[in-house]
Amino acid sequence: MSNFDFAPLLPAGLPAPASRWTGLAKYSFIGGNNDPDQVPVDELIEAVNAVLKREGKSLATYGLASGPQGYRPLREFLCSKLKRDAGIVATADGIMIVSGSLQALDLVNQTLLARGDTVIVEQETYQGTLNRLTRLGVNTVGIPLDGEGMRMDVLASKLAELKAKGIRPKYIYTIPTVQNPTGTIMPESRRAELLKLSQEYGVPIFEDDCYADLIWDGKRPPAIHAMADNGSVIHIGSFSKSIAPALRVGFIVAPWEMMSRMLALKTDAGSGALEQMVLAEYCAPHFTSHVPKLTRGLRRKLDTLMEALGEQFGTSAEFEDPKGGIFLWVKLPDNVDTLKLYQAALAAGVAINPGPEWSTNKGYAGSRLRLCFASPSEQQIREGVAVLADVCRREFGVPVRSANIERKHG
Ligand SMILES: Cc1ncc(COP(=O)(O)O)c(C=O)c1O
Repeated sequence: MSNFDFAPLLPAGLPAPASRWTGLAKYSFIGGNNDPDQVPVDELIEAVNAVLKREGKSLATYGLASGPQGYRPLREFLCSKLKRDAGIVATADGIMIVSGSLQALDLVNQTLLARGDTVIVEQETYQGTLNRLTRLGVNTVGIPLDGEGMRMDVLASKLAELKAKGIRPKYIYTIPTVQNPTGTIMPESRRAELLKLSQEYGVPIFEDDCYADLIWDGKRPPAIHAMADNGSVIHIGSFSKSIAPALRVGFIVAPWEMMSRMLALKTDAGSGALEQMVLAEYCAPHFTSHVPKLTRGLRRKLDTLMEALGEQFGTSAEFEDPKGGIFLWVKLPDNVDTLKLYQAALAAGVAINPGPEWSTNKGYAGSRLRLCFASPSEQQIREGVAVLADVCRREFGVPVRSANIERKHG
C-alpha cells in the first residue's frame, strides 16, 4: 500500500510524470529499436565468457581500473574504428564512454547551456534532443533540410540574423550521416560549408553520428570532426544502432577543454562495466563483418515497408528512399493530422511516431510521420501498414482503396 503524499515535497520545474509502461504495440513502428534477429547473441555469449574469465576480477574496481573515461580496450577499439570509417584521429584519452549517447547529449548540454540560450538544430530532428532543449528552456532555431541535409543558405542567413541581434548560438546540432528522421547523408562539400560557417561565427558543431554505421552502400563522408582543424566539433556516437540499444553504450570525442568539464559532470562513477567489456571483446574481431549483414537485413525490411506503403496508400504516402538507418519519413496528404492518427492507430494496435514530435516546425510536420522498420518482422510490416491505412481511411478519408486514384493532395 502506498498512501504517503510526496506531492508537497516535489520541487518546481519537474517534467510531467511518466505514464506506466503498457507494453509494445502489436505493430510497433516507433523508437530506435533494432532487428531482434540481428543481435549477435552467440558471439556476445562467447565474448562475455571470455572477458569475464580473463578480467572478471577487475569488476572489484570502479571503472575496471581504466579511469573515469571508460574501459580502455573499448576506447582503443573506437580509436581504430573512428579512424578507419570516419577519418577521426583520436587517442583513447580523447574519448569518453557514456551510458548511451543520450548521456552524451546531457553532458554536452549541461556543460554549455543555460536557460535562455540559443542553439541551432535541423528543423526535423531527434525528439530526445528537442525534449531536452525544451526542458532546459533553450531557444531552438530549426534550419530546414533538403536531400543533402541541413540547408546552408538558410543557416547562413539565420547566423547573420542572430549575430545582428547580438546572439551567439551555443552550438549547431546536426545528425549529418543518416539523419533522423529524414535519412539523408550530408555530402563532404556541404560539411565543409558548415564548418566554414561555424568558424566564421564562432559557433561549435555538435555532431551526432549514431546511425553512421547503417549505410546501404557502406560509404560515408568523413566526420565533420575529422574535417575540422581547430577542435570546434564535439562528436558523439553509439553502439545502440550497430549492436543493441539495450546495452546503453555510447561515446563522446571532444577536446580536453570540453572533456574535462564533462567528466566533472559525469557523477555516476562510470557506465555499466560489463557492457563495455563485452563490446570490446566482441567488436575487435566481429564488428566489421557484423555491420554489412545487419544493413542488408535492414534494407530488405525497408523495401518491404516501401512496397507495403505503395500497395496500401498508393500516391497518398510520399517518401524519399533513405540512404541507410532504420527510419522512413513519410508525408501523408495535408488533411491528415498525424498526432490524431497516432492516437487512432494505437487503439488499433499500430504504434507510429507523429511528425510534430520530430520537428521544430509543427505545421510542416503535421501530416508527416516516422516509421521504424528495424524491429517489426516483414509480416508485421505488411500487416501493420494495412491496419494503418484502414485507420487513416476511416479517420481522414485517405487513402481511398485503389492505389491508382487521382492524387488529391501535395
Ligand atoms: C539522433 C540520435 N541521437 C541519440 C540517440 C540516443 O541513442 P542511445 O542513447 O541509445 O545511444 C538516438 C536514439 O534513437 C538518436 O536517434
